[in-house]
Amino acid sequence: MIQPHGSTALNPRFVHDPARRAALAQEAQTLPSLLLNSAAAANAVMLGAGYFNPLTGYMNLADALSVAENLHTTSGLFWPVPIVNLTRETGIKPGTRLALRDPNVEGHPVLAVMDVQAVEPVSDAQLQTIVQQVFGTLDAQHPGVATFLSLGNTLLSGPIEVLNFSYFQSEFPDTFRTAVEIRNEIAARGWKKVVAFQTRNPMHRAHEELCRMAVERLKADGLVIHMLLGKLKEGDIPAPVRDACIRTMVEHYFPKNSVMITGYGFDMLYAGPREAVLHAVFRQNMGADYLIVGRDHAGVGNYYGPFDAQTIFDTKVPKGALQIQIFRADNTAFSKKLGRVVMMREAPDHTPEDFITLSGTKVRQMLGQGIAPPPEFSRPEVAKVLMDYYRSIGG
Ligand code: ADX
Repeated sequence: MIQPHGSTALNPRFVHDPARRAALAQEAQTLPSLLLNSAAAANAVMLGAGYFNPLTGYMNLADALSVAENLHTTSGLFWPVPIVNLTRETGIKPGTRLALRDPNVEGHPVLAVMDVQAVEPVSDAQLQTIVQQVFGTLDAQHPGVATFLSLGNTLLSGPIEVLNFSYFQSEFPDTFRTAVEIRNEIAARGWKKVVAFQTRNPMHRAHEELCRMAVERLKADGLVIHMLLGKLKEGDIPAPVRDACIRTMVEHYFPKNSVMITGYGFDMLYAGPREAVLHAVFRQNMGADYLIVGRDHAGVGNYYGPFDAQTIFDTKVPKGALQIQIFRADNTAFSKKLGRVVMMREAPDHTPEDFITLSGTKVRQMLGQGIAPPPEFSRPEVAKVLMDYYRSIGG
């Protein structure tokens, strides 16, 4: 199986041994504590689950700046996005053992214990440098930029030990998986060549066929659909609804045992190309050989070119930095001429009118009015789940 990023074995930060975990949880009750923001909590969950291997905790300022500017830590590890614990708290001292409390679970239970190695003020200029490099814009209308700039100006860095997986295990017991669990399941299934599909949407026909094309063309043994289960911007479809759509689609349209339906606990950054590279890193960690990267991967609005998330793998990822490869997909849509979903570049004789394309806004409008999009766009079973959802929220 493909090796994890940066080490031969996966070293998740979750404390696996129940006795040690219980002892740590007990110690945590005696420690000073910090209520995390959701972004830092999501980082802890990813570190705990092994997805951010070989990182052991939150980056210091030098590493965060180096990663933002050069996609490498100061010690030379390839890494595309700063993994940080920014806070507005100012009274924490280096050398502290700190109980990190979960903002997303009632009662704010301890999510992890951190050895605070450094407490560094971050100037607005430094924050902006990071944001500009990672998101490619400083526009506060960009949801990822707005979140990042709201986190605070104090950076806490150091290793963490993780006690649980926040709300992800209880709310998504059938879907949330750690990188360790996915590796184990791939091994148990005997899959040798694995394709991963990142998604934050219900899967429409284009997504479905993209996955099918990737598996067929790469002659892969299986597909791991790996959906984001954390926070999204307003208006995006909640994870339980997307999960139901995806399960319905797989059940009806994929051969049995050819797909693993899984998810990970992270908040969407909307960082387009940089997030695509992060996606590749953590899919390598979970044992995938390929990640599908299509049009406007992890994008939002018009901040990124439609294929920037593919070209970054040529321009910013040095040869050999990653073992995982990407499967590059062109804009995919249903061709009325051919009667199937195709990649547009593979139908050079087509005009735009030959394809069935609907904007996200249009699709939402239709679903909100109880109108199913055409079956060439959405499978009827999937459309039904979505219409029920829109009806439940009043269109
Ligand atoms: S993302 O933010 O997770 O990238 P989404 O769930 O919509 O959003 O997309 C999942 C993957 O499918 C991404 O790789 C994206 O580029 C790709 N994709 C979605 N729709 C299309 C399409 N019509 N043509 C080509 N690729 C697409």
